[in-house]
Amino acid sequence: MAKGLRKGLTSYGDEGFALFLRKAFIKAMGYSDDALDRPIVGITNTYSDYNPCHGNAPALIEAVKRGVMLSGAMPMVFPTISIHESFAHPTSMFLRNLMAMDTEEMIRAQPMDAIVVIGGCDKTLPAQIMAAASVDLPTVVVPVGPMVVGHHKGEVLGACTDCRRLWSAHRAGEIDEAEIETVNSRLAPSVGTCMVMGTASTMACITETLGLSLPMSATIPAPHAERIRLAEASGAAAARMAVDGGPRPSELLTPQAFRNATVVMQAIGGSTNGIIHLTAIANRTPHRYDLDMLDEIGRKVPVLVDLKPSGAHYMEHFHHAGGVPKLLAQLGELIDLDAGTVAGGTLRDIVARAEDVPGQDVIRPRSAPIKAEGSMAVLYGNLAPGGAIIKQAAASARLLQHTGRAVVFDSVEDMAARIDDPELDVGADDVLVLRNTGPKGAPGMPEAGYLPIPKKLGRQGVKDMVRISDARMSGTAFGTIVLHITPESAVGGPLALVESGDMIRLDLAGRRIDLLIDDGEFERRRALLRTSPAPAMPKRGYARLFQQTVLQADEGCDFDFMVRPPDEAP
Ligand code: FES
Repeated sequence: MAKGLRKGLTSYGDEGFALFLRKAFIKAMGYSDDALDRPIVGITNTYSDYNPCHGNAPALIEAVKRGVMLSGAMPMVFPTISIHESFAHPTSMFLRNLMAMDTEEMIRAQPMDAIVVIGGCDKTLPAQIMAAASVDLPTVVVPVGPMVVGHHKGEVLGACTDCRRLWSAHRAGEIDEAEIETVNSRLAPSVGTCMVMGTASTMACITETLGLSLPMSATIPAPHAERIRLAEASGAAAARMAVDGGPRPSELLTPQAFRNATVVMQAIGGSTNGIIHLTAIANRTPHRYDLDMLDEIGRKVPVLVDLKPSGAHYMEHFHHAGGVPKLLAQLGELIDLDAGTVAGGTLRDIVARAEDVPGQDVIRPRSAPIKAEGSMAVLYGNLAPGGAIIKQAAASARLLQHTGRAVVFDSVEDMAARIDDPELDVGADDVLVLRNTGPKGAPGMPEAGYLPIPKKLGRQGVKDMVRISDARMSGTAFGTIVLHITPESAVGGPLALVESGDMIRLDLAGRRIDLLIDDGEFERRRALLRTSPAPAMPKRGYARLFQQTVLQADEGCDFDFMVRPPDEAP
């Protein structure tokens, strides 16, 4: 197979001419023939003025290039889409698949023997790994790393769990306008990804566990010199892989690796978004992600990492306590240590080198967990025949077995218009229901599942209520919140049948979420649901492609035509 600059020649009907022309043009950049004869390591550039999480990407790129060149290969940097959570309309999830397609096609289109993808803000690592799994070229992932923590009035702060907590306090009248503005400048004190165990941190830990990045890559703070050295080492690893031809993603993304990632996701108190992304990644391989496996693992894997929103600390504390290698060591036989990694060797080698930090209490032993059961559970029931997710680790224990009266909102807009209405008929024991917020309904499945506590209840001191929806929730959020109800209401899922005043039962022990109406009434309402409540089909462009082909949450929200059939080779 052709290597380096000879790979994937442009179609002119004359291969010799195609290579001659390619070399003629690239020499305009000043490359020598010696450089152009080397193996090529592509490096994605996701720097963007709209993406502060990736603010250190230029420094990481330089370090990766140095590592590649020190190892005798040729680095070539190219741009791809970059997505930041707060700068993506309507949602970052709407754009994840576009970034995956962009990354995949640019890796396929341009000559390279290995690839280093640099990402981190929530949807970027999933998109890059989905692309890598589809292309199956040797790939090293370099996360940009978490921010360092902020401080306010002697308290340690972090994006974005504390953004939500303090904003709720502001809504409840506990923090005035001037102080909330001060807080606003202190929540994100450096470049890098949110430093709680949100989606970005969850995906970085999963990536390290899957063996797609070097040890400690998930946790080294973004501004630290150590992250620059990690980037250099990642470049060197990619250069080796360019020569060796592996390990490829297909050698690393095995059923045992997905199981290991699930164990870690449960043990870190990970983001529910991680489930959707792992499902989408698995669907780019011959394997599939099994929600029942997630629940089974959740019943026996304790939460060991004491990070917000489930615990007390932040990513830099996880790092200084030993990071993912130490966690893998604490998890013992729950992890399959024969799984491979881009570091060469297996997770067993990484665990053997895990640092023991005396006195640290961020990564607990299994004998003293944060929570006896894992972070997330899978619910079924008449409201969620295709499944729903609850992050029990971040929920109120008293609400995990709860029956309450439904207060229904038909859309994000409806919720925003009425939730703070003093006349809204709502009490602390009610169940807030939000629908038409799934993959097709909103569209793009917004992180609207964290419905705010109605202002009038917040002012009475209500901090949590049962909230259910077909939306997602930020990994940095907390509360007794049922998410990803499948199928979504916009495609006729049972959530569309709920009426305000109905009783809804959350039964975590039984793993159920049910609408308490009899079967006859259920069918009567279903028969009345004559027209599809899904929004009108967009007339053109990416929005149309999305609406036509996006899969449900239990299938990873990828496009249906991107899924790899189990029997198809990469
Ligand atoms: Fe980028 Fe949180 S906004 S990781």
